[in-house]
Amino acid sequence: MTSNTSAAVTPSATNGFRRFPDGFFWGCATSPTQIEGETVNEWAGYIAHDGSTPDDACNHWRRYRHDFRCLSTLNMNSYRFGFDWGRLQPGPFEPFERETSLRYMEMLAELRSHGIEPFLTLFHFACPQWMAHKQGWLHPESPAWFADFAQRLVEMTDGEVRHWITINEPVVYAFMAYVRGMFPPKRRHRYLQACTVLRHMQQAHALAYDAIHKEQPEARVGIAKHVKRFIPMRVWNPLDHLGARLAIRCFDRAWLDGFLHLQDRPISDFLGVNYYGRLRMKLYGAFSPVTGATRHQLHRCGITDTCDDMWEQDAEWLPVCLQALATRHRLPLYISENGVATDNETLRRHWLQAHLLKCHEALENGVDIRGYFYWSLLDNFEWAEGLTKRFGLMAVDFEDPGRRRDIRRTGFHYAAIARKNGVDIHPE
Ligand code: BGC
Repeated sequence: MTSNTSAAVTPSATNGFRRFPDGFFWGCATSPTQIEGETVNEWAGYIAHDGSTPDDACNHWRRYRHDFRCLSTLNMNSYRFGFDWGRLQPGPFEPFERETSLRYMEMLAELRSHGIEPFLTLFHFACPQWMAHKQGWLHPESPAWFADFAQRLVEMTDGEVRHWITINEPVVYAFMAYVRGMFPPKRRHRYLQACTVLRHMQQAHALAYDAIHKEQPEARVGIAKHVKRFIPMRVWNPLDHLGARLAIRCFDRAWLDGFLHLQDRPISDFLGVNYYGRLRMKLYGAFSPVTGATRHQLHRCGITDTCDDMWEQDAEWLPVCLQALATRHRLPLYISENGVATDNETLRRHWLQAHLLKCHEALENGVDIRGYFYWSLLDNFEWAEGLTKRFGLMAVDFEDPGRRRDIRRTGFHYAAIARKNGVDIHPE
């Protein structure tokens, strides 16, 4: 098992090679709804823009052994994934389903048998159906339900999990579910409800933090925060500047402190950073492929090769934002997600290379980064976008009932990086 309780041996840069600190966590990330299939949470039956549903996803629920062997082939020493709350707990404060607990414990054992350290996410955009029927995170008891879920998980896992991510991207969830209306329960422009959801999530995180630490004092508990660079689309337009500033305030700055401190005590041991790049703001809306901008429009604005199928990449900004977060919050950081949606393996490989070199730059500047998780291990169900976005280090054939998967070229490139614990500046 890899140990990583403090930033170990410092990073170094010699002979065209960027070495990462000893004990650095190299991993991939996934979430249950996006890969498991046989969905039982509130996403069951959801129909995405491309007409697909998460109901079969990658069939990981049955093929996890194969997938974990692939993680091992990729030389990963860690894996960020989740246990689906709805699959485990049939109602508030109720005991876990036995079959499900056994399956999840088997997954942990399987990972351990490959020497892979689990990083467990408790909530990744999906409420159990019973919770959805009770107004989800709007319900005043939702923080207590979540704390109970966390406590039962610590008891169930009995020391097998040391790194816990309570909530994935709280602001993105509240925004997509209560403002843009794209995630269940698909409400639009309910700004006050989004704020209530976030307040309850903060309380839930604080309660879960205490519940986990009570059972397992040495556990490391944090959240995964979505970090984007917002810039005005038209430099001459003051409203675009205002839109960008507003987005920075609402998405990046607001709410985070409430997940890190309660009065004067810390309630996070680390901060996970999910980083995908930048968004240009045109007035108050974003302008990128994922918000409907066409290639032609992007080209006309001078945005050419830096776009994947969803966003604009911006590796340059990664060390800047990591440095700012480290200085402001004084917590160890993980890149808990970073990846690219593309069919183009050359783009994916350059992209990975560029972000890792920038991550190393931040390390050299003294930022305490403990691990990097590529999003994602598999092509998967990309929420409202459905099954058409290709984030995986493994290509999944969604036409095949068994969901055949194959490691992509970039996967082997990443495997070599993890094996050498560093990045060649000019790889062959
Ligand atoms: C989410 C993932 C998602 C990824 C790519 C992150 O915001 O945590 O679930 O698939 O971005 O869109």
